[in-house]
Amino acid sequence: MCGIVGIVSNQSVSKRLIEGLTRLEYRGYDSAGIAVINGQGIKRRRAPGKIINLQHVLDDSPIDGTCGIAHTRWATHGKPNMENAHPHQAGNVAIVHNGIIENFKPLREELARKGHVFATQTDSEVIAHLIQYFLDKAMDEESAFLACVERLEGAYAVAALIGKDNQTLFAARHGSPLVVGFGEGEMFVGSDAFALAPFTKRVLYLEEGDSAVVKIDDVCVRDKSGEEVTREIMTASISAVMAEKGNYRHFMEKEIHEQPEALARTIAAYMDPETNLPLLGDAAPFLRDAERLVAIACGTAYLAASVGKYWFEGLAGVHVETDIASEFRYRTPALPKKNGTALFISQSGETADTLAAMRYCNRAGLDTIGVLNAPESSIARETNAIMRTLAGPEIGVASTKAFTAQLAVLAMGAIGMAHLRGSLSQADTQIHLMALETLPELAQQALTVKAQCEAIAPILATAKQSFFIGRGVYYPLALEGALKLKEITYLPAEGYAAGELKHGPIALIEDGTPVVVIAPTDALIEKTISNVEEVAARGAKVIAITDEAGAEQFKDSTKDIIILPDMPGLTGPIISAIPLQFLAYFTALKLGTNLDQPRNLAKSVTVE
Ligand code: AGP
Repeated sequence: MCGIVGIVSNQSVSKRLIEGLTRLEYRGYDSAGIAVINGQGIKRRRAPGKIINLQHVLDDSPIDGTCGIAHTRWATHGKPNMENAHPHQAGNVAIVHNGIIENFKPLREELARKGHVFATQTDSEVIAHLIQYFLDKAMDEESAFLACVERLEGAYAVAALIGKDNQTLFAARHGSPLVVGFGEGEMFVGSDAFALAPFTKRVLYLEEGDSAVVKIDDVCVRDKSGEEVTREIMTASISAVMAEKGNYRHFMEKEIHEQPEALARTIAAYMDPETNLPLLGDAAPFLRDAERLVAIACGTAYLAASVGKYWFEGLAGVHVETDIASEFRYRTPALPKKNGTALFISQSGETADTLAAMRYCNRAGLDTIGVLNAPESSIARETNAIMRTLAGPEIGVASTKAFTAQLAVLAMGAIGMAHLRGSLSQADTQIHLMALETLPELAQQALTVKAQCEAIAPILATAKQSFFIGRGVYYPLALEGALKLKEITYLPAEGYAAGELKHGPIALIEDGTPVVVIAPTDALIEKTISNVEEVAARGAKVIAITDEAGAEQFKDSTKDIIILPDMPGLTGPIISAIPLQFLAYFTALKLGTNLDQPRNLAKSVTVE
C-alpha cells in the first residue's frame, strides 16, 4: 500500500509534507514525491527509493507553496522507479493515489485516442489525465474531479491539486482509507491519522465513496450519491510520541519490548474486575450463539487465527475453519446457513484480502467480528463487532506486539465463549483468566532471553536454510518463526509441523542445518523430542525454545536451549513468540537488512 499526505495552509507546506510522509513510510518505500501549487501553477519533485532520497532532491532543487500533496509508494503497476513515482501530473492536475484502478487500461486507451500522452506504466496516471480531460470540457475543478471519480473502478484513496493557483485539496476514497485533519488555519488529508499526528489529532474518516473538497478553513464532504454529508470529527488516539523509536535501534526492537504493556492493556480491556470473568462486549452474542466459527486473515494474523483454532475448539467445543483471506472466498467455502460467526484478524484493518473476505461473509449472512488494532479502519467499520488489540501503533513491518495482542484477544475470546456456553465452569474460567493476567510479567521475563538470542543468531545468519518446527499450538508458532526470519532477513526458512518432517522435508536436513524447535512442556513434548532426535541424528543444529522442565529433555540434543518461564494456561504460544522475534531481529541486524522496512514489503497490503 502507499502513503498519502496533503496540506492546505496559511504557511509553506513542503517541509511538513515530508514530515507527514515519513510517518507513512512503513506503508511503502519504493519511491516518493511531492507537488505544490503556487502562483506559477503546479511544481513537482520525485525520487526513487526512500523519502530521504526525495529530501536530497528538494535540498538541491527546492519547491514550496501553501497547498501541496505528497506520496510514498509501494509499487503495484509499473516498476518502483522515478518515472512511475507519484505525484502524477497531466496539464494543471497533480494526483497521488493509493490502491488499484482496475479499469485503467480502457480509460488509458480512451484518453490516448483523445490525444493524451502517458508518461508512466502506472494505473494511477490515468486519474490525472481524466481530470484534465474534464477540465478541457470546461468543467470547474470540483466537477472535473467528481466526474473523474465517477469513472474509476477498483480501490483508491486519491488526493489532487487542480488548476494554476487553486488553494484546494480534492480527495476521494473507495476501498483505501483517507482521513481529513483539522488544524489551526490549515487543513490536512492523510492515509491515516498517524501521518497527521504531529499536526493535529482532530480528524474525520472519509467513508466508502466519499469525496471531499478541502480548503484552508473548511471541508465539504459528499457521499457516493453526491449529497453533501457531515462526518463526525474525532480525536485520534495516536500520539506522535508513541510512534517514535525512543532509544531503540529500530521500531521492531521497540515494539518487541512494548509487549508486556501491550498485553497488560489488552487483557485488562477484557477482564471484569468485579467478577474476574471475561468481558467480550458487542462480540459476546456472536460468540455465544455461534454453531461454527470461521477465522480469516493474512500472514502473521492468519497464524494467530491458527493458534486460536486450538483454543476455541478445545475450550468451547466449536468447529473453527481457518483460512488465508486470499484463498477463502475463491474456493466457494461451505458456510453455515445460520448462527455462523466469522472472525477477521488484522493489525491494520485495511488488508484488502481480509476486507474482501469479510464483505463476502457479510453478504453470506454471517455475523462478523474484527480482531483489530485499528478501531477506525475499514474492517472496523463494516463488521458487526470488534475486539480491539491494544498494542498501540505498530510501525515495524514485521508484526510483533500486534501478534501477541491478537493471541491474547483470541485466548480471551475462547475462554469467554466457553464460559458463556457452559463448557467451562466459572472456577475454570477464572483459573484461565488468572493465567492470562500473568502475561505481562511472563513477557517481561521472556525479554531477558534477548542476549542469548543475539548470541545464537549467527547460526541462522550463516545457514543457507533454516527450519522451525512445533506440534499442536506450537505448529503455527513454527510457521510464524519462519515468516519473521524470512521477511526481515530474506533468508529461506520453513515452518513445519514437527511430526511432518519425516514425510519428506527431512531430506533437506544436512550437517549444520539450524532447526528451531518450539516446545514448552505440554502433552506433546515427548513426541517433539523424538522428532528433534531424528533431525539431530542427521546433523541438524538444534535450537530449542522451551521451559525449565523441557530444558532437561533437550540437553542431550543441543546446548542452545532458550529457557522461558513456566507458562500456565494459554500463555505458552503467546510468550514463545518473543524469542522467535528476537532470533529474527538479531539475524537481520547481523545481515544489515532494512529490518523495519524490508524490501518488497509494506505494513499493510491494501491491494489484492
Ligand atoms: C507480519 O509480520 C507481516 N508483515 C504480514 O504477514 C501481516 O501480518 C499481514 O500482511 C496481515 O496484515 P494485517 O494484520 O494488517 O491484516
